[in-house]
Amino acid sequence: MYSRKCGRLMLGLICTSPKANLKNVLQLKSAFSWTSVCKRRTQLLQSQNALHCHISVRSASQTTVDPNELKRFQSLASKWWDEGGEFAALHSMNDLRVPFIRDNLLTVRGGQPGKPLAGFKILDVGCGGGLLTEPLGRLGANVLGIDPVEDSIGTARVHSSRDPDLRRRVQYQACTLEDLTGEGDEDDGFDAVVASEVVEHLADLETFAYCCSHVLKPGGSLFITTLNKTNLSYALGIVAAERLLRIVPMGTHDWEKFISPVELERLLESYGLSVQSVRGMLYNPVSGRWSWTDSTAINYALHAVKLSEEPQTDTAEADGPDPQRQAAS
Ligand SMILES: C[S@@+](CC[C@H](N)C(=O)[O-])C[C@H]1O[C@@H](n2cnc3c(N)ncnc32)[C@H](O)[C@@H]1O
Repeated sequence: MYSRKCGRLMLGLICTSPKANLKNVLQLKSAFSWTSVCKRRTQLLQSQNALHCHISVRSASQTTVDPNELKRFQSLASKWWDEGGEFAALHSMNDLRVPFIRDNLLTVRGGQPGKPLAGFKILDVGCGGGLLTEPLGRLGANVLGIDPVEDSIGTARVHSSRDPDLRRRVQYQACTLEDLTGEGDEDDGFDAVVASEVVEHLADLETFAYCCSHVLKPGGSLFITTLNKTNLSYALGIVAAERLLRIVPMGTHDWEKFISPVELERLLESYGLSVQSVRGMLYNPVSGRWSWTDSTAINYALHAVKLSEEPQTDTAEADGPDPQRQAAS
């Protein structure tokens, strides 16, 4: 029991092929075009090369999808709502992450009693079976959960359909963030983007950060929970969980994909997202509960806000990141 839960602490999970087909979700016509993302990303990469900048370009693939990750999550797609199963630690993480999201959103804009997040439009990226999507919907938010693993989205839909209160406010689509396409104006963005325990499974974090910034309204919030890149996270997440205790299959986690709060903050700020707070989270494998801690050495939660003004761009019509700002960071 201990080892199983210990493993879940930092463990990744895994999944299948992405599907894109998202239109007019939550009455949103996104001001986001994947074609323009690709174009801007290419320009950015070219500019970065020209400037010999220090930002590490994790991938020029322009997709966040790592097919191996999707295969692993695909195999677990029916397990999301087993509270004592593989995703138990994610269930109990709601004790911290739901109030973290709620309270930070209410700091930006007041809420109504009973349904404090009524009127907020939230995008839950990498929602899996909807473990976090549902409680956000119950707080009154209109939530779109997206995940490239179709079977996970199927599980999420079936589960939320049992609650009539959620049917009106929670929707799911099998797609990635970069698949979100459409046309619209500035009002069409999300009030918040949530990516909880997701970034450590992505192939390209820069594309992800860029897309997050694009789908957010100015002043909108980004919430991320993830794993730090430390000796401790390597020892517990890779050595203990995978090699010694064999809690998860070898290779479940790629420590290289973990990221420190400082590096994540630098990346987000280069895409016009200002980090407001970073808090350490600690999992107790005996109680199965999470608590806040001063240390961000293993798990942490981050809140960033999209600045009202876009970062400086190199062309008048450009809507992408500023290469000079990137270079400076
Ligand atoms: C550890 S689970 C977290 C699920 C959910 N956020 C939660 O905390 O309950 C990671 C999720 O990220 C999804 N994922 C993997 N690659 C992704 C990508 N490129 N874009 C969006 N989601 C992705 C997986 O399918 C999986 O559902």
